[in-house]
Amino acid sequence: MKRILVINGPNINLLGLREPDIYGTKSYADLVSFIREASSKAGLTADCFQSNSEGAIVDEIQKAYGNFDGIVINPAAYTHTSIAIPDALKAVGIPAVEVHLSDINSREPYRRVSYTSDACIATVAGKGFEGYEEAIRILQTAVCGGKSRA
Ligand code: DQA
Repeated sequence: MKRILVINGPNINLLGLREPDIYGTKSYADLVSFIREASSKAGLTADCFQSNSEGAIVDEIQKAYGNFDGIVINPAAYTHTSIAIPDALKAVGIPAVEVHLSDINSREPYRRVSYTSDACIATVAGKGFEGYEEAIRILQTAVCGGKSRA
């Protein structure tokens, strides 16, 4: 079975507490359960990783080389500032899909810039938890050619 790595960046661990009008009332633990279920529906196994630190995210992407077939990434605020994260994604060459809970294009102007997009095959934004399911389906098509097992 193909394996995917789902990476969440800074403050995603505070889901539920953090600006619930923007990010919703469900917790990070709820998100992890949602991702596990969506992955298994797509015939994939998912490992979830969350960090508030850019370097730890880069380390995790590097460690994914040879171990994962696809990456779903919500780099959170690092989306708009980090060059190291897209560089790491390009370095390992693992197909990646960027996801955001909120619609980054209809918020503050500084959120409209994503350096991560450059290293991803697709971006899904503004669909809450469902966006992760969509990202997983996009990866499944990219990695398995749409077949649920390969
Ligand atoms: C976010 C959007 C980012 O602009 C913000 O910094 C986040 C979360 C989202 O999921 O909507 O922390 O990536």
